[in-house]
Amino acid sequence: MRKPLIAANWKMFKTPAEATAFLTTFLPLVSQQSHAEVVLCPAMTSLAASIAAAAGSNVHIGAQTMHWLDSGAYTGETSPTMLKAIGATHVLIGHSERRQYFNETDTTVNLKLKAALAHGLIPIVCVGEHLEEREADLTAKVLELQTAVALEGIDAATAAPIVFAYEPVWAIGTGRTATPQIAEQAHKLIRNQIASSLTPAIAASTRILYGGSVKPDNAATLCCLEDIDGALVGGASLDPTSFAQIVLNSAA
Ligand code: 13P
Repeated sequence: MRKPLIAANWKMFKTPAEATAFLTTFLPLVSQQSHAEVVLCPAMTSLAASIAAAAGSNVHIGAQTMHWLDSGAYTGETSPTMLKAIGATHVLIGHSERRQYFNETDTTVNLKLKAALAHGLIPIVCVGEHLEEREADLTAKVLELQTAVALEGIDAATAAPIVFAYEPVWAIGTGRTATPQIAEQAHKLIRNQIASSLTPAIAASTRILYGGSVKPDNAATLCCLEDIDGALVGGASLDPTSFAQIVLNSAA
């Protein structure tokens, strides 16, 4: 019922030429698969080239962040209207690196989520606890709060496109992954919070991805368990063969 989604977060890597070269190699490797939706999130300057290179394929292109307003005097920002205008279909919201280095808060995540839904962009909302929070037994509290504030004021009737990504901060870029048990437990917590904030039916149909050191060799065990509906991949998504392998290995 929930189609797996495998998303690449390229962070601050790849020029337009490098993004195009990636797609030239990557598209044939995944053209025959249909079990998962595949999304690439390049840097803003490589969005247009990626969208052009992926045209007509089964791969979608999304942004890594955006502002919540349509336009305005916000130097350096990109609006949802601008993303839609060039053909982006998805947007990452509230990645932990945005929260950590660029002052994103649960409140701005909420504003961005509402803007994405209003503009027909598929939002991938990132939540996750820091190591100190996990060690202090605060994981449940952190995940519930991040999820609840993200969903504040959202009408269940508009919530179907929302995707969540559980990215434990201690597993990002560290080579350390959550065990499938830890990830499943976190995903259940997030799903229960979605049920309380919206409705049980929305919670049952919302995809929750796992992110944090997903690689080709752990994709099969981490991507697609009972409550895990795909992956958000950083480092291992930069190489076309490696990311294609993750997509193919995630087939249940
Ligand atoms: P890594 O896969 O490099 O750990 O990054 C995960 C991530 O931050 C995806 O958004």
